[in-house]
Amino acid sequence: MYVVSVINYKGGVGKTTVTANLGAELANRGMKVLLIDLDPQASLTFGFYDPDDWRERLRDGRTVKRWYDGLRGGTAAVTLGELVVTPGPANARLTGAGRLDLIASHLQLVDIDLALARAVANGDEYDAELFRVRGSLAEGLHDDALGSYDMVLIDCPPNFNVVTQSAIIASDHLVIPAKADYLSTLGIDYLHGNVRELVDQYNADARRFATTRRHHKVAPGVAGVVFTMIQLMAQRPIAAHQGYMDQVRALGLPVFPTVLRESVTVFATNTPRGVPVVLRDRTTSPVVRDELRQLTTEFLDHLQPEGAVA
Ligand SMILES: Nc1ncnc2c1ncn2[C@@H]1O[C@H](COP(=O)(O)OP(=O)(O)O)[C@@H](O)[C@H]1O
Ligand SMILES: [Mg+2]
Repeated sequence: MYVVSVINYKGGVGKTTVTANLGAELANRGMKVLLIDLDPQASLTFGFYDPDDWRERLRDGRTVKRWYDGLRGGTAAVTLGELVVTPGPANARLTGAGRLDLIASHLQLVDIDLALARAVANGDEYDAELFRVRGSLAEGLHDDALGSYDMVLIDCPPNFNVVTQSAIIASDHLVIPAKADYLSTLGIDYLHGNVRELVDQYNADARRFATTRRHHKVAPGVAGVVFTMIQLMAQRPIAAHQGYMDQVRALGLPVFPTVLRESVTVFATNTPRGVPVVLRDRTTSPVVRDELRQLTTEFLDHLQPEGAVA
């Protein structure tokens, strides 16, 4: 099972879009995929369930908020497996034996970040508690009920709070969606540095506090930066974008050759409801669909340098 976080400090760079479509395309190729929505804005969740559905069927019992609530004590612990739901319309479109499941987010997940941060800051056992919370998602993913997934994709919120940190610690790989503009490229270097610092600190803490053998050394690598919302001219990114893309390559980070073009008409709709673009009818957006499929192939290649594509 691969665990991959889709991450960037910035909002609106395509994290959720990339998560949904990578997941959908992998499921369409026969993989069992679990998406985890860690963003309290819940865009990924609302891509699959409309807000009324979410309120009636998911809000109280089946969101990732229950998992993080459980970490604070006082509320009944839950396993991640108990939170999984299977969005109907997207799964109805899958051609093979794959599956696309979701652990939904909650609009109040934002409070969890604050509450955890407070609990951690007030305790005498600051370092130990922080270590426990950072490692919690990695620990939770060892649930037997999740053993059949080939891929877990985590849609991260646009921050570096403790919930985001728990996603990074749980991950083997990171995918960084970015726009090719000045601030986005600055942010990537900064993010990469902070990830390295977090990982070093976690591994050092593991030597002090680890109580189970599951706290192995973590070493998430960057699978790639994917440039999104790119304007093309004659099938190439416009010069302004190209310059920033070259700068990111110069940082030494892998960059996916396929870029996702800007296509507001395609991405602004959720029709048919609950179906990611890559699973929609071929006729509606063939070019964008092909880009998303190519990106998925490159993504698998970056995870598996041996070329053994699932
Ligand atoms: N390639 C694209 N072209 C045009 N609009 C896009 C593209 N990718 C995403 N969008 C739109 O941009 C907005 C932000 O994308 P989203 O994936 O939600 O970003 P994030 O998760 O990083 O905040 C959404 O409305 C989405 O539909
Ligand atoms: Mg998002």
